[in-house]
Amino acid sequence: MFDCYQRTINYLRVSVTDRCNFRCMYCMPSQGVQLLDHSDILSYEEFIRLLEVFSRQGIQKIRLTGGEPLVRKGLTDFIRNIAAIEAINDISLTTNGCLLAPMAEQLKNAGLNRVNISLDTVDAKKFRRITRGGDVADTLRGVAAALEVGLTPVKLNTVLTELLTMADLEYFVDLVQRHPVNVRFIEYMPIGECRVGAGPSVEEVKTMLEQLGHGLLTPVSAPTGNGPARYYQLPGAKGTLGFVTPISEHFCSQCNRVRLTADGKLKPCLLSDQEIDLKAALRSGASEERLVELFQQTVAAKPEGHSLTPQQGKSEVRRRMSQIGG
Ligand code: 5AD
Ligand code: SF4
Repeated sequence: MFDCYQRTINYLRVSVTDRCNFRCMYCMPSQGVQLLDHSDILSYEEFIRLLEVFSRQGIQKIRLTGGEPLVRKGLTDFIRNIAAIEAINDISLTTNGCLLAPMAEQLKNAGLNRVNISLDTVDAKKFRRITRGGDVADTLRGVAAALEVGLTPVKLNTVLTELLTMADLEYFVDLVQRHPVNVRFIEYMPIGECRVGAGPSVEEVKTMLEQLGHGLLTPVSAPTGNGPARYYQLPGAKGTLGFVTPISEHFCSQCNRVRLTADGKLKPCLLSDQEIDLKAALRSGASEERLVELFQQTVAAKPEGHSLTPQQGKSEVRRRMSQIGG
């Protein structure tokens, strides 16, 4: 399926819940956000019906997001049912990692291929502050378990905030030298809560990484897929260091995705308020043809790009990150 700008759309991000056991400072206010009523959240059966229809329209890759997807009960069986859909050839999960260690093996066995784990700092105090209560040890156990059971390539998502320190970079450099982990530094997007300041720029992080004395960063191709990150390697390292630059260098021209929210709204773009209500259609008995039509409308509505720049302040989107799924 092509959109109006000749982009191939083959990737769907599915937010299975708006709940989260963390309250990251850049994502939610400390009291949390207004939660969806349980009856508004799609059942797994409803999600599977949509995924089957979309897979016949060219969707091949699924990423499960949240909130925190691992807080929703029954996720393993859901993954097994997604894996049974013929055209789906890649299932991944974005998680804060804190519940991952005890679940990693069952998730892998159900058909999950890989994980992205959010880890903004390895300093226990700063981690507790940024997540408002999380224990970094749980997330680090999640990273170790993901590697152990082969949920690879394991990617770490590190949002560039003012809390990132040289000690974190040292930790990440050591990690990628010893393990096939891809650490991705993500520019902070000013969506919703901005209770933490932006961190160093991508160029600054590159310089800081090279200052650690493990050699120069050499550009390498992406470990999997055609995601938006640009990857680099240090001499002899098993893993890579990457940068995702939604602000300083837009990657909209390569965008291949649409997003489905937990309440069944299909979004053509993270940074746009446009949404198409699939839940209403599903619950009023829509035919496959009608669902296909709504999917095609969403793809046709994908904007060419967004207008966030390093100079321009905040995004005006109404939903918070935890309500879209990042
Ligand atoms: N800017 C950049 N990344 C963000 N994430 C959540 N909020 C933001 C933001 N404002 C990241 C999380 C997680 C992924 C789902 O999105 O850290 O890795
Ligand atoms: Fe939860 Fe992820 Fe938002 Fe943090 S960024 S509060 S882990 S949904």
